[in-house]
Amino acid sequence: MSNSRYAPAVCLLLSGCGAEGAQSALRPGGIAAAKIATLTWVMTVTFTVIFFLVVAVMLLAVFRSRQAEPAHPPFGRSGLIIAGGVVLPLVVVIPLLIYSLETSAALRMPEDALTIRVIGHQWWWEVEYPEHGVVTANEIHIPAGEPVRLELLSADVIHSFWVPALNGKRDMIPGIVNEFWIQADRPGEYRGQCAEYCGLQHAHMALVVVALPPEEFAAWAHQRDEPETAPDTELEREGLAIFLRAGCSRCHAIRGTPAAGELGPDLTHIGSRETLGAGTIPNTHGNLMGWIGNAQGVKPGVFMPAMYLPAEELHALTQYLEGLK
Ligand code: CUA
Repeated sequence: MSNSRYAPAVCLLLSGCGAEGAQSALRPGGIAAAKIATLTWVMTVTFTVIFFLVVAVMLLAVFRSRQAEPAHPPFGRSGLIIAGGVVLPLVVVIPLLIYSLETSAALRMPEDALTIRVIGHQWWWEVEYPEHGVVTANEIHIPAGEPVRLELLSADVIHSFWVPALNGKRDMIPGIVNEFWIQADRPGEYRGQCAEYCGLQHAHMALVVVALPPEEFAAWAHQRDEPETAPDTELEREGLAIFLRAGCSRCHAIRGTPAAGELGPDLTHIGSRETLGAGTIPNTHGNLMGWIGNAQGVKPGVFMPAMYLPAEELHALTQYLEGLK
């Protein structure tokens, strides 16, 4: 028998521990997630102790012979029932209730925070910075050490916004604006994932929150605010012409060009994104060509149609998009 057959189970077990993964509620990266993690540990430890206590008492009752039973139990029968069935639960449950209410109160939305609007789509995230006039997708840049207010919406079905290291989950419901907030105490990257089944590619609806030192965030927002300038090289100019001619601009916008489609992600700075297809594949030259040529082969069911372009045109288009930093 080979050990390899156990490999998937072992991997699952290890990944469940979340020791090194950035996407773990047990490795909080911000004040809100830290409060939730502490509450989780307190509840888990308390109820584990109670579970073993109950099992021990149950086993005692099962294995103790009737003859060994004293004629007069220490507290009398009703005393035991009152102590174990009424007093003990109250002593445990009431402090836990107070503690969890306190935690809920501490998770209230902070005032005067930067607002970012996140709109869930099948199967990607639209990210808008109303105060900066910036629109992007699948990557949320925030200043570290500050609370960030989120307005969560959906363009189609119910999604759920969840970056475990930065706060709990919040549903994104069509027709409703749900308010939420996140905070990263330190600069870094924090992975998130849609947490409500939303169709075929629900599992490939990931996002990353990039927390930057506040001055770097200001510089980032200022740079993103600028519309794209005219392409530099002949190849890139040809790429833009193909983008406009082949129909890409009916779904995608690139600020500074005539492309103003709203169905798919804004591509003004696509070249600087880490992944394609909301965390599905790394954003490399080859992957971008493959994605444009046949997105269905990478993420079946996605609303991006296959673009049947000659190889030279695909290359020019890819070169142009990669240059949009
Ligand atoms: Cu969006 Cu699951």
